[in-house]
Amino acid sequence: MESTSEREAAPGTSQPSTPAVLRRQDTRLDSYVDRYAARTHGMTASAIRALFAVANRPEVVSLAGGMPNIADLPLDVVGSSLQQLVLGRGLQAMQYGSGQGEPEIREAICEVMRLEGISAHPDDVTVTVGSQQALDLVSRIFCDPGDVVLCEAPSYVGALGVFRSYQCEVAHVAMDSEGLVPEALREAVLALRAAGRKVKFVYTIPSFHNPAGVTQSLERREAILAVAEETDLLVIEDNPYGLLGFDAEPIPAIRSLSDDRVVYLGTFSKTFAPGFRIGWVLAPHAVREKLVLAQESATLCPPTFSQFAITAYLAQHDWQGQIKVFAEMYRERRDAMLTGLRNDMPEGVTWTVPAGGFYVWLTLPPGLDSQAMLPRAVTARVAYVPGTAFYADGFGSRHLRLSYCFPTPARILEGTRRLGDVLAHETELMSTFGTAVAGARPGELSTGLAPGTNQA
Ligand SMILES: Cc1ncc(COP(=O)(O)O)c(C=O)c1O
Repeated sequence: MESTSEREAAPGTSQPSTPAVLRRQDTRLDSYVDRYAARTHGMTASAIRALFAVANRPEVVSLAGGMPNIADLPLDVVGSSLQQLVLGRGLQAMQYGSGQGEPEIREAICEVMRLEGISAHPDDVTVTVGSQQALDLVSRIFCDPGDVVLCEAPSYVGALGVFRSYQCEVAHVAMDSEGLVPEALREAVLALRAAGRKVKFVYTIPSFHNPAGVTQSLERREAILAVAEETDLLVIEDNPYGLLGFDAEPIPAIRSLSDDRVVYLGTFSKTFAPGFRIGWVLAPHAVREKLVLAQESATLCPPTFSQFAITAYLAQHDWQGQIKVFAEMYRERRDAMLTGLRNDMPEGVTWTVPAGGFYVWLTLPPGLDSQAMLPRAVTARVAYVPGTAFYADGFGSRHLRLSYCFPTPARILEGTRRLGDVLAHETELMSTFGTAVAGARPGELSTGLAPGTNQA
């Protein structure tokens, strides 16, 4: 805290001749360190956040962040519907609302979910502040310190952070080109239970996985659900990208196959705009009651204005057509990314081929380390997220995530060209000085992937 004299002259003293300067006290030493709750010990800045500072410089091609590209949104339509909202129902829209979320948007959410085969009642929907808060609320009601949460290997960095903040242990489960491997899931549950551990749920991203870019087939979803039934395991299905497929109709959600075994998370962040911060949870009735109580203690209610705004957008605009426009724009970028990778990646680098969503997952030849390489990549003006960010246990250094959602196709091609140069240089260094990295561990999504080859 700054002293009074640094901000203003105390009464009765003469004014300083130069303007007072606001100075922050040095915060390198944290005098609160002994007071923080144990749950904060796992809270560290994500690799992505630390990277944004440099990656956002205009000269760097950032293939790192997964920011939705909302440039195609019809701002005139959104603008006039917001104006109508303020003038017509402004007082209600700017008031506190229901802890569960407004009835109109919960009905609209059921319509959105119908596109992925889910038949749900609005009473079972709880509106959240993005699906990120849904992850927090789900963890809050299910997880005690020391509980185990099963996650794909790799998994969404934001979910890992939430699970860590509730002092859960994350156990990673193997994936292949169709996502989570059911047999590996069964083995993990049985082994953990045999060791006396409490497994609270499996967290899965079935469509256009972040970061792996793979999608579970319908048969795979059924097999995962069968293992969950057999082992009495709760499934948390996180589905932000499911409507952003490039080729086919959406694959039915896991939740469409079971009403009571799955807690389903959705969001408007990728199909409309993330700034409204509206997501949701569809949960069995009893779980929903707990979620609403948790939501009330977290926020009193999710933002009413955003809910009204989204409801108006859905009612007044061809939102399904807009999702198709987004998907086409992302497909063009995905194609540029795949072309660039085919042209520029050295021998031995492989990657997944996403059929939707934002991400490609690269596997480097043994000996290369994506984290160690990052400063050299940024110096070469290209950024990515090292694979280690997507593992709770330090693995992943032979992998990296590339996002194609935001840059133009031309920038993406420039980015893969720069990355190719960096990798070629690293490979040369490695052949001169030897390997620095151990091989992949069992269960790590790696070069064995059928679609992850450079013949793609
Ligand atoms: C898999 C996954 N889940 C959840 C989220 C959180 O999204 P939001 O809170 O904007 O709905 C993201 C965002 O990138 C994501 O990729």
